[in-house]
Amino acid sequence: MQSSLSLLVVATATTFALFIQEITADQTYVPNLRRRSPDDDDDAPSLCALLIEPSGYPCTEHNIQTNDGYLLALQRVSSRNSNLRVQPGPPVLLQHGLFMGGDAWFLNSPEQSLGFILADHGFDVWVGNVRGTRWSHGHISLSVKDKDFWDFSWQELAFYDLAKMIQYINLITSSKTFIVGHSQGTIMSLAALTQPDIVEMVEAVALLSPISYLEHITAPLVQRMVGMHLDQMVSAMGIHKLNFRSNLLIDLLDSLCDGHLDCNDLLTSITGVNCCFNNSRVDFYLEYEPHPSSAKNMRHLFQMIRKGTFSQYDYGRFKNLRLYGQTKPPAFELSSIPKSLPLWMSYGGSDALADTIDLQHTLKELQSTPELLYLENYGHLDFIVSAKAKEDIYDHMIGFFRLLGKSGSS
Ligand SMILES: *[C@@H]1O[C@H](CO)[C@@H](O)[C@H](O)[C@H]1NC(C)=O
Repeated sequence: MQSSLSLLVVATATTFALFIQEITADQTYVPNLRRRSPDDDDDAPSLCALLIEPSGYPCTEHNIQTNDGYLLALQRVSSRNSNLRVQPGPPVLLQHGLFMGGDAWFLNSPEQSLGFILADHGFDVWVGNVRGTRWSHGHISLSVKDKDFWDFSWQELAFYDLAKMIQYINLITSSKTFIVGHSQGTIMSLAALTQPDIVEMVEAVALLSPISYLEHITAPLVQRMVGMHLDQMVSAMGIHKLNFRSNLLIDLLDSLCDGHLDCNDLLTSITGVNCCFNNSRVDFYLEYEPHPSSAKNMRHLFQMIRKGTFSQYDYGRFKNLRLYGQTKPPAFELSSIPKSLPLWMSYGGSDALADTIDLQHTLKELQSTPELLYLENYGHLDFIVSAKAKEDIYDHMIGFFRLLGKSGSS
């Protein structure tokens, strides 16, 4: 007891020390962060140029502006086969997870990666990138160095970013869109789909590692961070941006892994055992992941883990009363997602973040009965980078989309 307590104290002290270094490091790290307008274009290559076009896929960059002033990039990808390009198929929007960006859908070979596979099946593929990621372009008036830039959680990603992406695709294609979300992309989708004006632009939704309730997360490292109130520490220290790319934050994670907690495999202690992770590609993945997000986003998720709620951000009783007109933050009503919206979900028995008990909770509250695909040995990352994801998941998902297209409901 004594020794685990002192370990915790050491870990906490180390955490503080590392965060202080992180702030200092961040202040000296000025290049490429000052993007204020879409014209003020950065020299950094785009996602299209860096990852998608080199594999032979036509790709165009689209810039959109959210209603609260964030500038986001969307990529539109089509098939390598020019016959399929003549008449573009139905649009599908890919929405990545936390600490990831639109690159997540293109990290394996064209035969293995969902973004490429959908394009090869003739879908009109749109790639979402939320605020704060490497591919987003800042804000009309805020700099990424302003704390207000990072004043968001996944609920803003749902109501502003995702809503604007769907609206834009709807405008350009004059068609309802399919949505595929992974992890944070699923909680964003579920929250957004409680809004009737968004649902009416959506054809169907496929969720990989679906999350809404987070009460039963089993990832030991996440439990530990929640237990030691890392979110509150970070916020008390005035840290607004989380950037896990720095070696310092990697060191921090290592420092949380002391003693009884087995973090030999850091990724596993966060995401669960991933059955089909290709270890020889890790260096390549790390060229793209992880992307930054806000400390407030982590805090919102930690609130949900502690309370078992699927609710808006909790500001504390008084500010809640002022903002929401009630002392508790309003809950998202999954039951207001229309029964007529076709839903498809795939979840894994080894996923330490999207727990099956939490998924049962989600399912109980939905009016509709989604089609489910359970993969016993899949962990959280397998849904994106499993070397066998095509056979295991994507072919089934595409079958589901195709069947809907045939019934000709729209
Ligand atoms: C794993 O990655 C390596 C390096 O990129 C690649 O050569 C190999 O084909 C991959 N294995 C599988 C099963 O995809």
